[in-house]
Amino acid sequence: MEWIGRVGAVTGAASGIGAATAQELAARGVHVVAMDIDPAGLSATVAAIEAAGGAATAAVVDVAERAAVQDVIAGVAAGHGRLDLVVNCAATFLARGLDVTGADWDHVLRVNVQGISNVVQAAHPLLARAPGAAVVNTASISAHVAQRSRWTYNTTKAAIVTLTRCMAMDLAPDGIRVNVVSPGWIWTPEVSRAAGGDRAAWEPVWGRFHLLRRLGEPVEVARAIAFLCSSDASFITGTELPVDGGYLAMGPEGLGDDSSFAGSR
Ligand SMILES: NC(=O)c1ccc[n+]([C@@H]2O[C@H](COP(=O)([O-])OP(=O)(O)OC[C@H]3O[C@@H](n4cnc5c(N)ncnc54)[C@H](O)[C@@H]3O)[C@@H](O)[C@H]2O)c1
Repeated sequence: MEWIGRVGAVTGAASGIGAATAQELAARGVHVVAMDIDPAGLSATVAAIEAAGGAATAAVVDVAERAAVQDVIAGVAAGHGRLDLVVNCAATFLARGLDVTGADWDHVLRVNVQGISNVVQAAHPLLARAPGAAVVNTASISAHVAQRSRWTYNTTKAAIVTLTRCMAMDLAPDGIRVNVVSPGWIWTPEVSRAAGGDRAAWEPVWGRFHLLRRLGEPVEVARAIAFLCSSDASFITGTELPVDGGYLAMGPEGLGDDSSFAGSR
């Protein structure tokens, strides 16, 4: 019952983890304001939510555009008079290393880091009036490990972990909790593209990066986000929750000899 009547903004809601989160929160009774730059994807998410009996509104917006984000949140204030939850999933996967340009840095920092700041800053007055308000950001295992030619993406993900802690400190006096999830490899359109659509071929390869020997599903991250939004997480703030099938727990020895792994022990 705690979800009924609440309003939650989800960025990156047109696809992948953001779409799954929008659907998960809506299924629990939250009215979702689905934010993304992709109008077609947003329409699909809203249609899926409505088909399942939930409620959602689409807001086409670039999270890097501060004024546009403020307009969306002003619309939420006018239309709903409240905002209880903010989930930041929107991101660019722009990955550059030695070949990075100034324009690359500007873009990736503006979308992945400043985008979260824009949304939380705009939402703050409404969140501060909502009992049990919560923000969940999305970082990655990439915040913690070196990956080839990923100066840009990985740096933004590490920044999001620190940004989350700083936000949690500043918003705590208003009763707003702020946490961050760090997914491992999740089967989303981006990962599927990297696999050339061939899950059967690539899951055994990439699955071995995780103790559970598989990739995650978007809904598995969405449920962890919903937990952090819920009153079950009422004493949790400023923390990072890996949703990574054990990726970050594994050392350089990898899985070792896993011939005895039965998958059920
Ligand atoms: N898929 C994974 O394996 C994985 C792993 C770790 C972390 N993550 C993180 O999870 C989050 C969601 O990733 P996903 O895999 O679901 O990706 P996705 O590409 O399926 O979804 C990302 C969404 O963000 C939107 N977006 C991009 N730039 C935007 C902007 N400027 N303004 C508004 N919307 C914008 C896209 O249109 C897209 O709908 C990201 O923060 C990503 O870094 C994903």
